[in-house]
Amino acid sequence: MNSVLITYSVKCFFVLLVALQSVQSLADRADELANTCVACHGAKGISNNTNWPNLAGQKSGYLEAQLRAFRDGTRLDPLMNSTVKGLSDQDLKSLAQHFSSLTPKISSAVAKSNQAGMNVRARCVSCHGMQGKTVNDQWPNISGQKMGYLQKQLKAFRDGSRHSEVMAVIVKDFTDQQIEDVSEYYSQQGH
Ligand code: HEC
Ligand code: HEC
Repeated sequence: MNSVLITYSVKCFFVLLVALQSVQSLADRADELANTCVACHGAKGISNNTNWPNLAGQKSGYLEAQLRAFRDGTRLDPLMNSTVKGLSDQDLKSLAQHFSSLTPKISSAVAKSNQAGMNVRARCVSCHGMQGKTVNDQWPNISGQKMGYLQKQLKAFRDGSRHSEVMAVIVKDFTDQQIEDVSEYYSQQGH
């Protein structure tokens, strides 16, 4: 009886050990992968280039979907397509969770937000929220995001080079000036 119990305990111990090791190696793999992103997105997911997006605190489901789109070539960007080429679904999920868990940028106080941009905001709040923070894991937060990046995305939705049926309808009649104003407005909002 005792020896059966001992054999059973020893087995359990090894199963646990293997499980712990695989959790550990997943975490190591995620860290290793995330290191390949810091040159452009910053060590803490805050970039220092207006055209490169902050990732810290972004919705995890949204990040994962975008990473898949870059990998599968349905969203095009020369830097991103080559970076995520060949990564597994699990890798993309770990990366999305990693960056989503980082603290988002708290914007430094802006004396006066772009007022024309604030007037455009009425067309955004139903999905992106009053403060540019969404309630849906699949929809991106846009507050505190880099201005050049926001502007480029809105133009890409307008000319169809980035596909989103929802966003294409929203921006189809926007002028460059409206895009610039609303991009500046959201880049000036804290998270
Ligand atoms: C050489 C620079 C570079 C590297 C390295 C890089 N990125 Fe990017 N990333 C970019 C640029 C530029 C964009 C914006 C693309 C665009 O304009 O559509 C971007 C966009 C993204 C987006 C879309 C964000 C959004 O709000 O839609 C995600 C997610 C992302 N990168 C994640 C990563 C991850 C994860 C890694 C590491 C595995 C990584 N990036 C490595 C330059 C880089
Ligand atoms: C009906 C819902 C809806 C409305 C209204 C809406 N959006 Fe969006 N927006 C989305 C969704 C969904 C996405 C993700 C698209 C994708 O999957 O690529 C998105 C993506 C974006 C992105 C890309 C963010 C990134 O990190 O790359 C920007 C910028 C953006 N929206 C700005 C705006 C602005 C500005 C307005 C108002 C003028 C607006 N949106 C109105 C649903 C909406």
